[in-house]
Amino acid sequence: MQNEKETYNYTVVRQFAVMTVVWGVVGMLVGVIIAAQLLWPELNFDVAWLSYGRLRPLHTNAVIFAFGGCALFATSYYVVQRTSHARLFSDALASFTFWGWQVVIVLAAITLPLGITSGKEYAELEWPIDILITLVWVSYAVVFFGTLYRRKIQHIYVANWFFGAFILTVALLHLVNSAAVPVTFWKSYSVYAGAQDAMVQWWYGHNAVGFFLTAGFLGIMYYFIPKQANRPIYSYRLSVVHFWALVFTYMWAGPHHLHYTALPEWAQSLGMVFSLILLAPSWGGMINGIMTLSGAWYKLRDDPILKFLIVSLSFYGMSTFEGPMMSIKTVNALSHYTDWTVGHVHSGALGWVGLVSMGAIYFLIPKLFGRAEMWSVRLINVHFWVATVGIVLYIAAMWIAGVMQGLMWRAVGADGTLTYTFVESVKATYPFYAIRLLGGVLYLAGMLIMAWNVFKTVLEGETFEAQIPAPVHA
Ligand code: HEM
Ligand code: HEM
Repeated sequence: MQNEKETYNYTVVRQFAVMTVVWGVVGMLVGVIIAAQLLWPELNFDVAWLSYGRLRPLHTNAVIFAFGGCALFATSYYVVQRTSHARLFSDALASFTFWGWQVVIVLAAITLPLGITSGKEYAELEWPIDILITLVWVSYAVVFFGTLYRRKIQHIYVANWFFGAFILTVALLHLVNSAAVPVTFWKSYSVYAGAQDAMVQWWYGHNAVGFFLTAGFLGIMYYFIPKQANRPIYSYRLSVVHFWALVFTYMWAGPHHLHYTALPEWAQSLGMVFSLILLAPSWGGMINGIMTLSGAWYKLRDDPILKFLIVSLSFYGMSTFEGPMMSIKTVNALSHYTDWTVGHVHSGALGWVGLVSMGAIYFLIPKLFGRAEMWSVRLINVHFWVATVGIVLYIAAMWIAGVMQGLMWRAVGADGTLTYTFVESVKATYPFYAIRLLGGVLYLAGMLIMAWNVFKTVLEGETFEAQIPAPVHA
């Protein structure tokens, strides 16, 4: 019988890693369904549960919190143990975070189609589920920081800084934005009102992007790129500057979601200025990741996992260039309400969050199940190309559709009347919705290929207890 303290807890990492793939398939399938509904609205079959307005939040919750969340739990639990040479602080609490998080996801999948919602984007779940999320999240923080506390390596590797900031900030965002007065078991009202409510919501919304969809995934980037490339990170000093600049700047950028609203003018401008500043730390991080390959670019040619990780950074760079541009008020006057925003979202979501998670899971699965590599390396390559073509189709279609919509809505004749009716702009968008659907189907197909590859690897693999290296005494 092995001493528990001398091994890593891979069980919970395995559970989260496998569920990342399962929820990825589910969330993206719902994405494909709503993309199809925008093309053929009758696909809701006149059933309220299948209506677009209910499936859309199901999609966003499933991809962000179920797919992305499981990827973050799996990678952070793996990285914090490996870089600390310590077993997770508490197996019981870690297991609670897994099962608790799955219950949250299932409750979301039931309540959202039923139309039970707080109406706050990315925070739609009603108060009883919010309380469960809080319990899971506090346990997550205890496990993560407890493990860091027990570390045998004095230095705290930078990936853990990003994971730590993600965990603390999401706790703060969730507690502040979800503050509500319950009126029944499944209905509550926000404690904030009017413009304050909007401000708090988008402080939350933007930082959900900044910390849930960015900081945590940067933690993934800082561990898995150097590991997969077998090279040290390009600049450790840059990573520290990157960390502090990013966490400081993100906090202020939220008002760019509320341009030309009842929000005070100064707050809108503040949001715009901080969004522009955000370009610098974002690109600093991207450069740090990509340049880690400097002198070893050839590795990209035959390592498909590295392709996922490095190309994800290219999309990260693209969306963090686009975001600051869209935050400029005059640009936002054109882009807001259009599919340009949806294109921006998915270049970050499919390109950055999706690809970096897939790369990390491909790295992890063989290591967690005692295999030298995935069942089929060729299929990883196929997945990479299918997904990349899918992303390009999706985002290019949305960019063109978005700019077209913005221009059509503002076009006026010599007498000041609108040149186009709204319906004309909807009709003109149809071909682009078809291209987006094709892109989405390809991206989902890639995910299904991954699920098959993971299934076969797990089937051939075995679970085992990984030893923690003995401390080295000088
Ligand atoms: C420097 C970084 C970024 C900046 C300054 C930025 C800025 C913006 C702006 C100005 C909007 C449009 C707001 C509106 O008109 O309503 C937006 C929307 C959005 N962005 Fe970004 N963005 C950045 C990076 C990212 C990344 C990397 C992701 C995803 C991983 C992302 C996800 C989103 C989402 C989900 C929305 C839509 C929110 C909604 O209306 O529901 N952004 N962003
Ligand atoms: C097969 C892949 C996917 C497809 C086909 C898809 C499709 C869609 C569609 C049709 C919408 C609604 C757009 C609208 O209301 O006009 C949407 C929204 C959204 N999706 Fe996806 N999606 C996919 C994957 C993902 C992934 C992996 C993520 C995140 C990691 C994501 C995050 C979002 C977000 C945040 C929104 C809300 C955007 C906003 O409010 O502006 N999607 N998606």
